[in-house]
Amino acid sequence: MSTAEPHPQEAGSQEPEPKIVAFLCNWCSYAGADLAGISRIQYPASIRVIRVPCSGRVDPFHILKALQSGADGVLVSGCHPGDCHYLTGNYVARRRFAVLNDLLEFAGIDPGRVSFSWVSAAEGERFAEVVREVTEKVKALGPNRKLVKEPAS
Ligand code: FES
Repeated sequence: MSTAEPHPQEAGSQEPEPKIVAFLCNWCSYAGADLAGISRIQYPASIRVIRVPCSGRVDPFHILKALQSGADGVLVSGCHPGDCHYLTGNYVARRRFAVLNDLLEFAGIDPGRVSFSWVSAAEGERFAEVVREVTEKVKALGPNRKLVKEPAS
């Protein structure tokens, strides 16, 4: 296949997919995404994956930076409670996420643009379902224009 051809998932779609930055923990959610790929489970081509060592490594600044850089939405996904490779990283992430929701509201950004989920390495289908849900939610909100920096003219 030539590199000029559109991606198969994009070729037939009418509406452009939203751009969603997905911070996936290396030990669970990234492996779940890998399993979805290996299992050929279909999900929207909307996510841009950033592999992180743990969901607790994701700083709210990273999320705001992604939205400022043109992402329409952000997904943070880590191990299920009790399964974090670093014991409490996902609990830290969950607490940060609760605080971030208030910050987003304060900044006038719909908190629906940022999602948090638990996906294990064995849950390829669940990973695909999370991506479908998040994509639909972000698509319904439309393009993100609130924080996006316009290039200087
Ligand atoms: Fe997966 Fe901490 S290692 S959330």
